[in-house]
Amino acid sequence: MSAEKILVTGGAGYIGSHACVELLQVGYDVIVVDNLSNSKPESLARVEKITGKALHFVEADIRDKQALNDIFSTHDIYAVLHFAGLKAVGESCAQPIRYYENNVYGTLVLTEMMQQYGVKRIIFSSSATVYGEPDTVKYTEDLPVYGATNPYGKSKAMVEDILKDLATADKLSNASDPWKVILLRYFNPIGAHLSGLIGEDPNGIPNNLVPYVSQVAVGKLEQLSVFGGDYPTIDGTGVRDYIHVVDLVKGHLNALQAIQNISGCKAYNLGAGKGYSVLEVISAFKRITGKSINYKIVERRAGDIAENYADPGLALRELNWQTEKNLDDMVADTWRWQSTNPNGYA
Ligand code: NAD
Ligand code: UFG
Repeated sequence: MSAEKILVTGGAGYIGSHACVELLQVGYDVIVVDNLSNSKPESLARVEKITGKALHFVEADIRDKQALNDIFSTHDIYAVLHFAGLKAVGESCAQPIRYYENNVYGTLVLTEMMQQYGVKRIIFSSSATVYGEPDTVKYTEDLPVYGATNPYGKSKAMVEDILKDLATADKLSNASDPWKVILLRYFNPIGAHLSGLIGEDPNGIPNNLVPYVSQVAVGKLEQLSVFGGDYPTIDGTGVRDYIHVVDLVKGHLNALQAIQNISGCKAYNLGAGKGYSVLEVISAFKRITGKSINYKIVERRAGDIAENYADPGLALRELNWQTEKNLDDMVADTWRWQSTNPNGYA
């Protein structure tokens, strides 16, 4: 029997490239569609180097119907892992149309082509941001998802709705080959592949904590601004559920195993179930890299919440998945990638 083919949208990006490695290693055939708007083809060359296997790369935009038509008419795709999207919260506030156009319309074009070719299994990269600002710090999947505070988060909630509606339509019509949809709500992915060959390569000044801290540690940036020191948390700084990117993508492999038995649409949190403060992350970086991390506590960042972490119990029960790596692993792997590739893929 030939290997199942998986279409990975956004496969040249940070999380997508790590997913390609794991998919190839367990024997899937991988087709990547990416417009390289936030990535470089070098990441895919490194994926092939790590795995010793080839993948098929199509440089195209998911909003390009003709390009998608070519892919689906050429390949018998088993399922789609849908990572392609724009993801910068601040930028989405400044350029909402661009975010809705790319993330929402892009998904509409993708699912329309999937429907046309009868490819009805999709695993979508959603985010804990869809929960907005609930009254609890431990998030379960049954919390309402209508509180996102920025266009990026809203675009994720909208795509979740579209995918749910597709599954519902097939249920209502008793379709013989119904849509099977898994929404994976990521907490804070960090870290890099153990080889140090692939990792996160942000454009310009990083928005997120860990890429910023690692660029301070490697000497590219002067000083970290810690956004807020007066939150009601263990040390006053923000607490998040950091998850190793390899654990995260392994969750997608488990989801692929489970998807055929899913009825309609299911959402799962992918997180460790434990939060760390900004100061705890800084202290792990200092300890593991032996570098000093220059930082200053400044005003809170608009839109930030004090603390959140996942209840990952549902993913354990239904996908048989849980994280395996701890904060030290995440920092050590981030550092290996950052220190051996100080300029990313450039
Ligand atoms: P990334 O920017 O590194 O990867 C996204 C990839 O999609 C890039 O290679 C980009 O070139 C490509 N892309 C964007 N729009 C496209 C389009 N219209 N057509 C084709 N390709 C397109 O981001 P990432 O961190 O790997 O995130 C992957 C997914 O996970 C995104 O959907 C993101 O919103 C989601 N997510 C990420 C995080 C995080 O903290 N990294 C957290 C929650 C959810
Ligand atoms: N932080 C700093 N200084 C920085 C950057 C961040 O102190 O320079 C703090 C933040 O205030 C927060 C913590 O570090 O307390 C984590 O911030 P990140 O920007 O790394 O991550 P967020 O939790 O704000 O958001 C991330 C992604 C979103 C995604 C969300 C999912 O950026 O896209 O996780 O939970 F939606």
